Amino acid sequence: GAAAQPALTSRPQVQRALLALTVPLETLQVVKGRMLQAMRKGLSRQTHAQANMRMLPTYICSLPDGTEKGDLLVVELCQSHVRTLRVTLSGNGNQSPEVVYKIFDMPGDIKQGKGEALFDFIAQCVCQFLAGISSPQQRLPLGFVFPFSCRQTGLDKAELISWSKGFSCSDVEGKDVVQLLQSAINKQELCHVDVVALMNDTVGTMMTCSTEGEPCEVALVVGTSTNSCFMAEAQQVEMAEKASGQMCVNTEWGYFGDDGSLSDVLTPYDQRVDQESANPGEKRFEKLVASLYLGEIVRHVLTALAAEKALFIGSSVAVLRTKDVLKTQQVLEISNNEEGMAKARSALEVLGLQPSEQDCCRVQQICRAVVSRAAVLCAAGLAAILSHMCQSRELEQMVVNVGVDSKLYRGHSRFGEILQSVTGLLAPECKATLLPSVDGTGRGAAMVTAVALRLAAQRREVEQLLAPLWLSRADLERVQALMRREMELGLGRESNADSSVRMLPTYVRGTPDGTERGEFLALDLGGTNFRVLVVRVAQDGIRMASEIYIIPTTVMQGTGEALFDHIIECIVDFQLKQNLMDQILPLGFTFSFPCQQLGLDKAVLLSWTKGFSASGCVGQDVVHLLREAAQRKQHLGLKVVAVVNDTVGTMMSCAYEDPKCEIGLIVGTGTNACYMEEMENVGTVEGEQGRMCINMEWGAFGDNGCLDDFFTNFDQLVDEKTINAGKQRFEKLISGMYLGEIVRHVLLALVEKQVLFRGKPCPKLQTRDIFQTKCLSTIETDGLALQKVRAILQDLELQASFEDSILVREVCQTVSLRAAQLCAAGLAAVVEKMRENRGLAQLAVTVGVDGTLYKMHPHFSQNLQKMLQDLAPNCTVTLLQSEDGSGKGAALVAAVACREAEP
Ligand code: BG6
Ligand code: GLC
Repeated sequence: GAAAQPALTSRPQVQRALLALTVPLETLQVVKGRMLQAMRKGLSRQTHAQANMRMLPTYICSLPDGTEKGDLLVVELCQSHVRTLRVTLSGNGNQSPEVVYKIFDMPGDIKQGKGEALFDFIAQCVCQFLAGISSPQQRLPLGFVFPFSCRQTGLDKAELISWSKGFSCSDVEGKDVVQLLQSAINKQELCHVDVVALMNDTVGTMMTCSTEGEPCEVALVVGTSTNSCFMAEAQQVEMAEKASGQMCVNTEWGYFGDDGSLSDVLTPYDQRVDQESANPGEKRFEKLVASLYLGEIVRHVLTALAAEKALFIGSSVAVLRTKDVLKTQQVLEISNNEEGMAKARSALEVLGLQPSEQDCCRVQQICRAVVSRAAVLCAAGLAAILSHMCQSRELEQMVVNVGVDSKLYRGHSRFGEILQSVTGLLAPECKATLLPSVDGTGRGAAMVTAVALRLAAQRREVEQLLAPLWLSRADLERVQALMRREMELGLGRESNADSSVRMLPTYVRGTPDGTERGEFLALDLGGTNFRVLVVRVAQDGIRMASEIYIIPTTVMQGTGEALFDHIIECIVDFQLKQNLMDQILPLGFTFSFPCQQLGLDKAVLLSWTKGFSASGCVGQDVVHLLREAAQRKQHLGLKVVAVVNDTVGTMMSCAYEDPKCEIGLIVGTGTNACYMEEMENVGTVEGEQGRMCINMEWGAFGDNGCLDDFFTNFDQLVDEKTINAGKQRFEKLISGMYLGEIVRHVLLALVEKQVLFRGKPCPKLQTRDIFQTKCLSTIETDGLALQKVRAILQDLELQASFEDSILVREVCQTVSLRAAQLCAAGLAAVVEKMRENRGLAQLAVTVGVDGTLYKMHPHFSQNLQKMLQDLAPNCTVTLLQSEDGSGKGAALVAAVACREAEP
């Protein structure tokens, strides 16, 4: 339409000016690239101090979720007035909150006066406003919109870096603005008003544009000045030291270009605008984009063209030398298609310029060029933000809402159109929807304040709920001491019955010495997998072959006969596969349940654990049960020579590699430990010479009530639903079979308290065992993007927000840390006892460790090691992870047994 009238610009000088104001796409790409660099510079701790774009952390880490409610107060410090608002949120998705506001004109001298006077004035506005709306004396949280760059260290801690926009009050720079306002408010005797959040105007805009289900994660303000903010990945905001989640960053992009990076865009007109401004050399990007300057740019273009006799021939142009004679509003009106020409004529005539038709037309083209340039530069900046977000979220494509608060945007449809389309060209991987902000920043500020309050309240709830799961060092020392006491009781002949830790003799009297030889069968029953193995122990080492067999739950919990029949069937299958049918190999049996051993090959099952409950086994010798099953199945070639617990198997297997290994530890489906005890201390076995391996069965620690102080509600709930309620209480705090359940119960409680999943009921979370321990391991993996945590939860049909994901992770960390620390306390008791037994000042010992939780969890082993060192400082403990399972150890025990049986 009327936009393109090239004939009218035929004068070369005008052509040249228009060309200078046009930024081609390639240059915009370059600008975007430099903006990206500038952003990274501002975000990084190392380069932050030198960065032009400061990328300031705002400590706003959450968007509204619609549950915010209550009365909030907002004070906005604007160019020439103060706006006060009361916003009432109803908690129903933040739909149409009730807003009451009042605007107070600011006395002209206040901007350059004393800081105290400014804040007193603001407080007076609040006071008057409250008087006018008859607000009750209940506590009123206040959000403060303060559109200057501040160094924030919290939502309610913000030091003013420097004034701008004509403000220069004394004694404010470098001070905490929140405190200044709060003191002024207190002076007004409004002690029930709490300043809880301070924010930049861009942040307010972003929040205003966020409605339920449609979060807005970027905002631009293009008014008198310009700025932007966006939700960044928190770990990239290095100045804020927050490891996960997101944080809104105030880019302060107005300063972009102050290091010369806009040089290919700047025209001589811009240089003049800059020189005549209050802050030459500063805020170069802002001076190309913000409305404060557009009129000035046009004025300088017209001045130059008039001097070249390309415009206003015959009129006096002296008027153009006056600053600000052309207002940005006029520039915008002139750029408009419809009445633009008429507006140009009247504007120019008011200045006494007597424009010709051609002059008007050229002036319109110049205005358009200046406005378009502002729009495309804004687009380059926005594209940089979008691409940065997309990259740091590791997304290939991103859909995002962008809140825009702008006079240019509202008054001028072309600005918005250009911004939209050019952003699309420069960041094609992002689909941005521009949302015009209609009610300014006030509502958003209320939202920020409300979110801050919601989060603080939630935090208190969360901490209250998790506190029982946090163990102090004193707690752990107590656990260690209790374990030590139970060990002593368990070892004593008379006191054994009073101890919850059974301290079972194993008849294993030494660790391997390397001379063991032979070929053995081994069974490994009681962990995640049931295995049958053949183990060849030769001079040049150990070779093994094995098969994993499934034990269905129905068999685990059916009859003993069925269970042992099944085991024999698996042995037969294995022997067939391995071609071992016609040999009678001695067999070592890892049987990972508490047994009273009467000898190496005689083990009476004391109780089932870990979900087994096959009938008719407790009180029976498991070797006998196995032999009976072999007979039933007419399998004659079975020669069981040793039964060992998995802890013992693991210790033996690791001791074959490291002779210092005298402790076995399992942290898997269940948990338990064994260690070499002095015979003289073992009251339950005859003989005083040498050592014997003791299977502690520490999983049952606390079954006599000695740990009751440490059990939480969650532990009780988990215990109640197990098939062995009241039993294996220590195990139920630590091992893989139960951690997921503990987490699930904590999550349920958090939902109940309305601090997780927005308090929406989650039927899926009611399902037992839905949350497996391996989820814990994955969720706690370092550097795992929150998106992935969310996906894991999504797989469980849990709709989690980012904050939900962070909270779930925190719960997992709390539960697994407690497990590791308790395990450390138990182990500390063991190593300290061994050290004392041997009368050593310092003990160096190795622990052979196995179990899925220990092996798969990303932090369990470090947490264990760290706490252990702390609790047992006189022991140097090496944790050696078992690689071959305990079957190898069972075979080694069998080898020793066979050698001893030889005449
Ligand atoms: C295996 C051992 O590696 O670990 C088993 O061979 C032991 O004997 C098991 O019971 C413990 O871990 P989990 O996680 O399988 O219970
Ligand atoms: C259970 C068993 C114990 C075993 C441990 C680890 O606690 O009772 O014998 O060692 O699990 O598997």
